Amino acid sequence: MRLKETGPTPHHAPGDWSPDSWRGLPIAQQPTWPDPARLDEVLDELALLPPLVLPGEVDELGASLAEVAAGRAFLLQAGDCAERFSSCTEDGVRSKLRVILQLAILLTYGSGLPVVKVGRIAGQFGKPRSSPVEVVDGVELPVFRGDIVNDPEPTPQARTADASRLLSAYHHASATLNVLRALTKEGFADLGQVHAWNQEFVRRSPAGQHYETAARDITWALRFMSACGADVEGLSTLRQTQLYTSHEALLPGFEQALTRHRPNGWYGTSAHMLWIGDRTRSLDGAHVEFLSGLSNPLGVKLGPTTTPGELVDLCERLDPGHVPGRLVLISRMGADRVTELLPPLVRAVEFTGRRVVWACDPMHGNTFKSASGYKTRSLVDITREISGFFAVHRAEGTVPGGVHLELTGDDVTECLGGADEVLDGHLCRRYETACDPRLNATQSIELAFRVAELLREHHSR
Ligand code: PEP
Ligand code: CO
Repeated sequence: MRLKETGPTPHHAPGDWSPDSWRGLPIAQQPTWPDPARLDEVLDELALLPPLVLPGEVDELGASLAEVAAGRAFLLQAGDCAERFSSCTEDGVRSKLRVILQLAILLTYGSGLPVVKVGRIAGQFGKPRSSPVEVVDGVELPVFRGDIVNDPEPTPQARTADASRLLSAYHHASATLNVLRALTKEGFADLGQVHAWNQEFVRRSPAGQHYETAARDITWALRFMSACGADVEGLSTLRQTQLYTSHEALLPGFEQALTRHRPNGWYGTSAHMLWIGDRTRSLDGAHVEFLSGLSNPLGVKLGPTTTPGELVDLCERLDPGHVPGRLVLISRMGADRVTELLPPLVRAVEFTGRRVVWACDPMHGNTFKSASGYKTRSLVDITREISGFFAVHRAEGTVPGGVHLELTGDDVTECLGGADEVLDGHLCRRYETACDPRLNATQSIELAFRVAELLREHHSR
């Protein structure tokens, strides 16, 4: 409904954009499919399957992101770096949802703002890589590009791209969404369950104890409202929640097969929000062309090489109609450079008059190899980049709209630091990620307290 009033306005003249207008354009980060006929067969099959998300839900997210862009809500986008088919179990989904709900409630409670929850979930199966090949035990192999393409096992057969995996990705996303929809609409997401979200291993940690105190305050606040006569039990917004889904739209063929037309435009129906990675945001490339025609809210990752001119051109291509909240600009500059690199970008976009969502990805600019050889990130750097991001928006008078995190609800040891300190020597204990290192549940909660503090400071000015 909202889109009828405000857009979207594709940049193309009517009839110019079509779901396959990206074909033939330069395209980065694609696997070599050994059997193109099988690929076409799979894409035809996908095109006949039902949408994973509904256009109406996509529009609702668009409306919520317009609130974020205006500073009246905050975006929490979080989940796996590379989701695995094997983590698509009831417990796996429950554990991810649990930590996202915990973070969202801490952010809401700490800042007094509604939190728009978007998971890197139910489809985050494709990964851009820094090199197309790697050498394992003297053998050169194609890299792992995510479960939607190949398998991480280091054998030539496992690493060969397999188009049947596109269908598997659809079905795993569908099963994940099914559990998510059930859990967010029944007792699990009830605010009365705020204590139950704290798992035993989290409760024992300093962050978990701090969380318990906040949860106790929230329970008391609900009792107080109830005692004053408010119908707390009857409020469905306290018993249910909405978690939107998102992933990097790395494979336009897959996304095109799930694109559906509605009277007010074309919708990508593989997820509510799709984003363009830092490696695929080339202006004349296939990814920008494809996403420019969709009505979905679009994320764009902005790394240190982004120039203000390039960014303005990207905004023009992707949001010619200046639709508030259509673009989520996700900067990932690194803790040391964010205060230098972000301000010129913010100013350039401000100058165009757009209301975008500025989000901070404090993960991808802070990755390094530890002395013991693990790809890792430290909670100190992650926190520092977010603080820098808030400082920039304070100085520019703009809205720090959200954070974009790679995390898990499990007790993994992939990122360094935290009050239950993960040291380099601990990384080998539970290093389970298929791609980038994720915050574990206690590190995530610790970070949420800090972000809530920054938000409260920002909005009390
Ligand atoms: C990611 O989000 O996992 C990713 C690859 O990010 P970026 O495009 O910012 O490098
Ligand atoms: Co990542």
